[in-house]
Amino acid sequence: MSASNQSIHGMWSSQMVFVLAATGSAVGLGNIWRFPYMVGEYGGGLFVLIYLGCIALIGVPVMMAEVMLGRMGRHSPITSIRIIAERNGLSRHWHLLGWMGVVAGLLILSFYSVIAGWSMAYIFRSGAGVFDGITAEGVSAIFSDLVSEPEKLLAWHTLFMIMTYVVVSKGVVRGLEVAVKILMPMLFILLLVLLAYSMNTGYFNDGIQFMFFPETSRIADIKGLSFVILAALGQAFFTLSLGAGAIMAYGAYLPRSTSIFRVTMMVVIMDTLVAIVAGMIIFPIVFANNLDTVVFANGLDARYGPGLVFQTLPLAFGHMPWGDFFAALFFLLLVIAAWTSSISLLEPAVAYLVERWSLARDRAAMLMSVIVWILGLGTIFSFNIWSDVRPLESFEIFADKTVYHLLDFLASNILLPLGGVLIAVFVGWRLNWKTTEDELAMGKEYCSYAVWRISIRYIAPVLLIIVFIYSLLKVIGQLSSAP
Ligand code: TRP
Repeated sequence: MSASNQSIHGMWSSQMVFVLAATGSAVGLGNIWRFPYMVGEYGGGLFVLIYLGCIALIGVPVMMAEVMLGRMGRHSPITSIRIIAERNGLSRHWHLLGWMGVVAGLLILSFYSVIAGWSMAYIFRSGAGVFDGITAEGVSAIFSDLVSEPEKLLAWHTLFMIMTYVVVSKGVVRGLEVAVKILMPMLFILLLVLLAYSMNTGYFNDGIQFMFFPETSRIADIKGLSFVILAALGQAFFTLSLGAGAIMAYGAYLPRSTSIFRVTMMVVIMDTLVAIVAGMIIFPIVFANNLDTVVFANGLDARYGPGLVFQTLPLAFGHMPWGDFFAALFFLLLVIAAWTSSISLLEPAVAYLVERWSLARDRAAMLMSVIVWILGLGTIFSFNIWSDVRPLESFEIFADKTVYHLLDFLASNILLPLGGVLIAVFVGWRLNWKTTEDELAMGKEYCSYAVWRISIRYIAPVLLIIVFIYSLLKVIGQLSSAP
């Protein structure tokens, strides 16, 4: 039957192209923008260690499961899960899991695109030389200027959504190769240049200390351990593009002969390295410029928050030879990394519309892009005209959260891990041993099938459920103590 060997949306030309595309999806703003600011807000070492634990114990088996489901179903996540459920005599309702992922992906893209827009604005600021010899106050002023103007942010957000639309409307398989084969490696090299800079700030050890050594005294200030864990878990899903069907959608175009374990490990290792290196670049700069009091203000007055990268890296660029050039190049490559990720956030929804309602691909991509574009207004306004709006003010834990923060919290910390639980239960408990063993074909692998099966059946879901129940109880506790 051809349906299970080919996808109507196209196929990757080789295993390597899949690895590149999945890496392109995984590596993006999540590594370079979100990871460092989360590490800052959640107090450093402990967050990083829990994050690494989540990647290894939950991220790896869940990513393998997503790739496997995509390749089994050969359709968009929603359709694939429906097909697989039917084929195995299970309830069709499982496809709601795909729907949840699609919603999460669109919500994430709505703010992702706005932040990618900031990066675009920074290409031009760098090129114009505004960071030359700049001070910490200077970078803050430039950043505040940018985000205080909704029209500007809207223009960049619009441009980025058009870029995403263009690739998705042409079909992902053709659009991606150059970006991931040439431009991503350039970004990696530039990160190494920045790392060399950070090593010479004289504060490298402070940065490392902050990132890797848990300091429990900070936790009490940050709303408690359960939120550190939930945030680390959310970050693990976000950075690996898990829980929203993105990797599943890409798995649908993967040739049958490839080893899912091997491709997964390549993507996970590359992604984790980029995030860790980004942190090792940024924190020494923070300490060298005495920004720590502003950046680590216990999550209460985290003035930098989402602005962290945009207010630290320019400080480094502003004081290095050829800084303007490197800064412009860096933000350009960051935009491209964000682009290869945003495509995978839109793809599951678009592929579904194409299959289900026989919409032409460009129509479907247009429809979804417009919806995301409108949703993006919520994030844009969160940094200016709505910067004082706190929709869930009456709950202590959400008291300081803007619309953007809440959107991100809902999508990244709740919907993605919830998608992860459902995927783990579906694959680990509803699909039988033989079905998954055939698809994974791990017999020859050093990491045996049994280890994966135990991880996806017990380790991942149990950990996920514990984290959920624990944080849910916290929230309820907070609710009842609310005025
Ligand atoms: N992983 C990407 C990043 O780190 C973002 C991303 C792309 C994503 N596709 C996703 C996040 C699907 C969650 C789900 O920048």
